[in-house]
Amino acid sequence: MTLLTWPRFDLFEYEYELARREVRVLVDGAAEETREGFVVPAPLSTKALQSFTYFSEVVDQDRREVTPQRRIELVHRQVTGRTGSGQSTRYLVHDLHEYKGKFNPQMARALINVFGSRADEVIDPFCGSGTTVIEAVRLGKRGLGLDINPLAAWMSQIKVDVTVSRDPVRLLGEFRALGQSALRRAGSAKKPPRTTFSKLWDEDTQMYLESWFPPETFWPLARVLGGISESDGLAGELIRLAVSNITRQVSWQLPEDLRIRRRPKGWQPPDTVPLLARALKRVEFALVEQLDAPAPDSVAVGRIAQVDARAVESAAPPRKRVSRVIVTSPPYATALPYVDTDRLSIVLLGLSPSSNLKALDGKLTGSREWTRSESKEWDARMRSNADELPTSVLDLVTEISARNERDNAGFRRLAVPGLLYRYFADMGDAISSWSRVLSKDEYAVLVVGTNKTAGTNDPIVIDTPSLIADLAPSRGFVVSEVCPLQAWPRYGMHARNGVAGESAVVLRRVLDS
Ligand SMILES: C[S@@+](CC[C@H](N)C(=O)[O-])C[C@H]1O[C@@H](n2cnc3c(N)ncnc32)[C@H](O)[C@@H]1O
Repeated sequence: MTLLTWPRFDLFEYEYELARREVRVLVDGAAEETREGFVVPAPLSTKALQSFTYFSEVVDQDRREVTPQRRIELVHRQVTGRTGSGQSTRYLVHDLHEYKGKFNPQMARALINVFGSRADEVIDPFCGSGTTVIEAVRLGKRGLGLDINPLAAWMSQIKVDVTVSRDPVRLLGEFRALGQSALRRAGSAKKPPRTTFSKLWDEDTQMYLESWFPPETFWPLARVLGGISESDGLAGELIRLAVSNITRQVSWQLPEDLRIRRRPKGWQPPDTVPLLARALKRVEFALVEQLDAPAPDSVAVGRIAQVDARAVESAAPPRKRVSRVIVTSPPYATALPYVDTDRLSIVLLGLSPSSNLKALDGKLTGSREWTRSESKEWDARMRSNADELPTSVLDLVTEISARNERDNAGFRRLAVPGLLYRYFADMGDAISSWSRVLSKDEYAVLVVGTNKTAGTNDPIVIDTPSLIADLAPSRGFVVSEVCPLQAWPRYGMHARNGVAGESAVVLRRVLDS
């Protein structure tokens, strides 16, 4: 008999529910729930023990042991010196870089366990900072993440590479040595030679960057970046990642604004050295924690591609005998401007030419960017329902249009019905693409929330989970369930976007009749 104990802190109701479902999927035989946790009749398999997300300890005749996941969370607190005893969400590589709308990693892990326990490969077509892919790899599975934001694709690949690194001790040593020399370079007040700039950027890009960074911070950053060479490998990429993390603080970009806007005049640039030192420390913490993490199974590899979620098959060709699951959180309707927000990091690190970025922003699902001719085209498509969207979506856009007319709305509000129609058409295309890489009875799990129309006293609720569920039947799926997740208030996320509650929309692939 084995006892699996609940943690001492409270979980959310949805977390208890996911934990129960993990037991059902991962434990052979009937397990009995008690106040303390679960009593399991047979010994636990190593796989189950390694996989559980929420349990704290495993107790049997011979041992009382902290579960591997809980141990990683506790190590995180020890290494970073963070106090508190609740759930930590920034363990291992999850804290390496900021990203808007990050997943709760435990939730991604539990969803993989529950809906993809037998899957060999986990795909996240809107991978953002790579949370799902990292948890997939930690669970011994292959992970594939797609994102059209070059910064997201880049940081996710680095996080994966750290996670699967075969020699974390050496990586830490190399990183520390490079970090020391980066700090020395940052400390020099002299203007770097012209060759440093020309090695990093062409003239136009340099001029663009000079308009966004004062010399007091631009020169140290150029020195640090110029000091990294390709032969520095992953350790060099981690230094660049630390630089990217302080980009907003040392530039003219208003930190709190999602769009790239300038700070008011009179701003005094901070000293780059202590900021960089702190950013390097944060990376070092993750590498130290990694020393304690069990090495993922040798089959577990993670791959990230800068590919559109509507073209998954180009990165994941259909394969026989590979079972898959999709776990993802798509952007919201009228989403965050992911590319614009990260523009300075992208250009500074040479991840994409600045001339490409507007087009990339326009390609984001849920983008608010469109040209006049695109707007006309989508209006026409909406009027004829060229994309065969379900009645519920059409009713919503009709209701918003009627309200716009009643209120004599301005141009921003007038654009909303067409933008929403385009969002759901794009999501429909994405789901169709996923149907081409999943086999019968495999799952696609989408974590999405409701939001509201802005700019009016009587906003209309956009129930994205149920509208996405309505898209599924004509795109190769049935709706298996919609589970409410009350996760976000704990982290205060999305508060400003008015996202009330999130749900996991679980779609099951059915064969086309
Ligand atoms: C809500 S975020 C995902 C966050 C992620 N779960 C995490 O933990 O970091 C949505 C992501 O979708 C990406 N995205 C938007 N439209 C896309 C598209 N058409 N194809 C691929 N990625 C897209 C955005 O760049 C953003 O990174």
